[in-house]
Amino acid sequence: MPIPISTSDEECDLFPTLTRQQIEAARTSSWYDTFEDITFDSTVIDLSELGEEEEFLHWLEADSIFLPEGSEGRYAPESSTSSTRRRSSSNASSYSSSSSSSSDAPVYHLPKLNAAIRQVIEKYDGLVFPKLNWTAPKDAAFILPQTSSGPLHCTSPSDVYLLLKSSDFISHDLDPSRAYLGCSPDPQGEGSGSVRKPKLELVLKRFQDINPSREVRCFVRNNTFIGVTQRDNVFYDHLKNEDTRLKICDTVRAFWEDEIRENYMNGEAVDYIFDLYLSPNFDSAQIIDFQPYRSSVDPLLFTYEELLSIFNSSTQPLQESENARRSRLPIFKIIDSKAHPSASRNAPTYQSNMMPLEMIELSQGRNMQEFKDAWDEAVAQGMAE
Ligand SMILES: Nc1ncnc2c1ncn2[C@@H]1O[C@H](COP(=O)(O)OP(=O)(O)O)[C@@H](O)[C@H]1O
Ligand SMILES: [Mg+2]
Repeated sequence: MPIPISTSDEECDLFPTLTRQQIEAARTSSWYDTFEDITFDSTVIDLSELGEEEEFLHWLEADSIFLPEGSEGRYAPESSTSSTRRRSSSNASSYSSSSSSSSDAPVYHLPKLNAAIRQVIEKYDGLVFPKLNWTAPKDAAFILPQTSSGPLHCTSPSDVYLLLKSSDFISHDLDPSRAYLGCSPDPQGEGSGSVRKPKLELVLKRFQDINPSREVRCFVRNNTFIGVTQRDNVFYDHLKNEDTRLKICDTVRAFWEDEIRENYMNGEAVDYIFDLYLSPNFDSAQIIDFQPYRSSVDPLLFTYEELLSIFNSSTQPLQESENARRSRLPIFKIIDSKAHPSASRNAPTYQSNMMPLEMIELSQGRNMQEFKDAWDEAVAQGMAE
């Protein structure tokens, strides 16, 4: 099928003005049912439906580093049943845990969320990948012990909580001015500055052993598929092969035409970004995620100026000979050598979000209470020395 080319002579702005619906459409809960067969298994937990949104936010936004009670381990501990509830959820004050000395430790109760997370972990054979409405806590991956399965895999509610609590990235999903960035003012009279708070959802995906060399990010502007870039900033030798690159381009273009174009937002979306995971032989793909077309999404090997100029040149009247170039859209960008300026094999990802090494070493035990005890002890020791 030919690539649709916009026939409009109008040049576009660097970013489209987005509607709130376009941003809501990129939530996993909005697109999952449509694309269930061609994406990773996922379950959405609606915090307010569960009746624990307020307590969850209270816990997440508090300065304390205590994990919700009864969240440790894959199976529910006996003591996490409701009969052991020791304070009302609206009362943020505290009780003294038997192990702590004189300090009052706040206790957070999220029994339904604990149970819901455990149920999903069970369903997905023991390992899940968490995110909130739109965003995964990738910047907090260092807080869990690293295994061969890679980062962000959770085997218990406490793993999920630890990641969420340690992440700066997920605050994007709680703050309306960031979540709805680029949005036109709310037509229901609320200005863009005072938009409603986003509804809060915890998404748990079945954990996949992902090979990052097969992840690509794709850009659609005004319903024209303009660009594809490898997602991982690493040089992969096999991507240099021209046949491989052509095959990847054909696969992602066909996938967009057959699966996404008519179905994402019922075919009404014109500007968006999506991430795909390619099969080992690059013949097929699965959806990882959708994003609105806006500046907060990393354009990776492109710049948004470049993407705009690719789009604009695709709308210009063409010489006959240029048809071939146009039919080659999307433009596919890769890191073609180790010396490429974007190649970053040696730089830790999200390094600006990292904690001091001492804290990382102390955090290896996962349990926030143990971590705090160890930290307090280390500080006391440091003061005594
Ligand atoms: N189900 C999963 N299992 C393991 N890793 C995953 C899974 N889903 C995504 N990832 C990895 O995490 C990265 C970020 O996932 P994504 O859902 O796009 O979150 P975000 O939108 O916050 O970037 C992906 O590039 C992929 O490498
Ligand atoms: Mg995403």
